[in-house]
Amino acid sequence: MLLLVRRQKIIMRRVIIAGNWKMNKNIAESIDLANTVKRSLYDVESVEIVLCPPFTSLSDVNEVLIESNIGLGAQDVYWEKEGAFTGEVSCSMLKSAGCKYCIVGHSERRQFFGETNETVNKKAKALLANSLKPIVCVGEKLEDRKADKTFQVVKDHVVNSLAGLTKEDMANVVVAYEPVWAIGTGVNATKEQAQEVHKYIRGLLKEMFDEATADSVRIQYGGSVKPDNIKELIQQEDVDGALVGGASLKADPFAQIVRGCL
Ligand code: 13P
Repeated sequence: MLLLVRRQKIIMRRVIIAGNWKMNKNIAESIDLANTVKRSLYDVESVEIVLCPPFTSLSDVNEVLIESNIGLGAQDVYWEKEGAFTGEVSCSMLKSAGCKYCIVGHSERRQFFGETNETVNKKAKALLANSLKPIVCVGEKLEDRKADKTFQVVKDHVVNSLAGLTKEDMANVVVAYEPVWAIGTGVNATKEQAQEVHKYIRGLLKEMFDEATADSVRIQYGGSVKPDNIKELIQQEDVDGALVGGASLKADPFAQIVRGCL
């Protein structure tokens, strides 16, 4: 039965596993890791694989990944086209470096760099206008969960980060549910906790757009994903992939996570 559900899901929503390297890997290390990941996963077709190195490595990793089964993503973007915005990187710059995806609204950016739903929304719209696919991160902090505010916080993130997007836009959006308490802690959400929130997010998408749109959007789980927990997470009906931090910094665990979804 589980297998059947999983098979149906593959047909409806292709599993997507993305590695968020965060602020790790210089250029040489990035090339090395991308090459090893490429070699380890050259035969995988049914799972979409994306690597998100730091800005400085994007172009070089793109060279490695060209004509492979692995796509390239960035970790952030600025919404303006160009101009006096010291330190920022535009959509067209990401495109010229070979990106197809870009993470926006990661909790580390919300926590340390003043990212808000409004800026996430502007970034998502700019990416879509430039034919780049946003991976929009949402998720509650431990204090929110303890105060029984998980759904409230997730709703605020989803509704406001995706405000004004069309059904057509949503075909190119991935949502990543990353409970902040599970990021980098080794304590992942249980499969039940993940499924509960993913199902809630899909319900919100149905209210915001329509059922067909909600059914087709891929919702990744992120937070201490490892080779030994991916299988039970990915078997959940509304879990369509993973956004992997620590375990994406070495080819072997990352490849095992991808293969755990086959
Ligand atoms: P970890 O996998 O290290 O918990 O990080 C998750 C994450 O933040 C991915 O974006």
